[in-house]
Amino acid sequence: MCEKQIRMIASSTLSPIPMVGDAVFFLLFCYISAMANSRRDKADSYTQRAHKEGYPARSVYKLEEINAKEKLIKPGDSVLDVGAAPGSWTLYTHRMLIKGKGRIVSCDLNPLSLDPVPPTVTEITGDAFSKEIRARLTELGPYDAIISDAAPMTTGNRTVDTTRSEGLASEVVRLAEEQLKKGGNLVIKIFQGGGEQEILRHMREMFKKAKAFKPKASRDDSFEIFLIGLEKK
Ligand SMILES: C[S@@+](CC[C@H](N)C(=O)[O-])C[C@H]1O[C@@H](n2cnc3c(N)ncnc32)[C@H](O)[C@@H]1O
Repeated sequence: MCEKQIRMIASSTLSPIPMVGDAVFFLLFCYISAMANSRRDKADSYTQRAHKEGYPARSVYKLEEINAKEKLIKPGDSVLDVGAAPGSWTLYTHRMLIKGKGRIVSCDLNPLSLDPVPPTVTEITGDAFSKEIRARLTELGPYDAIISDAAPMTTGNRTVDTTRSEGLASEVVRLAEEQLKKGGNLVIKIFQGGGEQEILRHMREMFKKAKAFKPKASRDDSFEIFLIGLEKK
């Protein structure tokens, strides 16, 4: 929101008296600036920390929070990471969750930006839901955990973006139906307003426990949430 817009709200809607309008403007301006700064600081601190710790994206801290809340992955597990590029979730899984013991199949439309790619990782570049890549993922399965941070390129049109996100999330659920082991765990990103309640209902039938979770590391203005399924029946 720009200064002109704040001034218009303050002076025209809140008070007909000019001085009061100015005071309201000043308070509103301070409040909105403080909110914007705190949001930026939060984003920056995650980005800086990711950089310092050698992760290519700040999204790593979402997986860290999700896994701290629900133990999804343990050393020795076989993990499928869908929508894996640039590779933070993959690297975190290698370092902190499977601790170098186990394996990770990392699939994305784009290549990973990890140098070197950890030895536990099999990288697959392409559409995870195309016939040929799917066959390859099946060949390398089944998995103890499937984690998906896959997201469409956003257009700015919320209806389009949420519909595409729902499409990706539904495909991941289908993949989990086929390729997740009994007792296995699932995490899926979805944009809110994109049929997440229906997918969650379906996950409650598939898993002993299923819930939605919004990590603190998600940007305040992001409408993403994560659906977590624990212990596939
Ligand atoms: C938010 S990024 C993932 C970030 C990643 N978790 C990390 O920590 O580095 C979303 C990714 O989903 C990928 N994606 C979207 N649709 C896909 C599809 N059909 N198959 C594979 N990857 C897909 C995009 O290419 C993009 O790299």
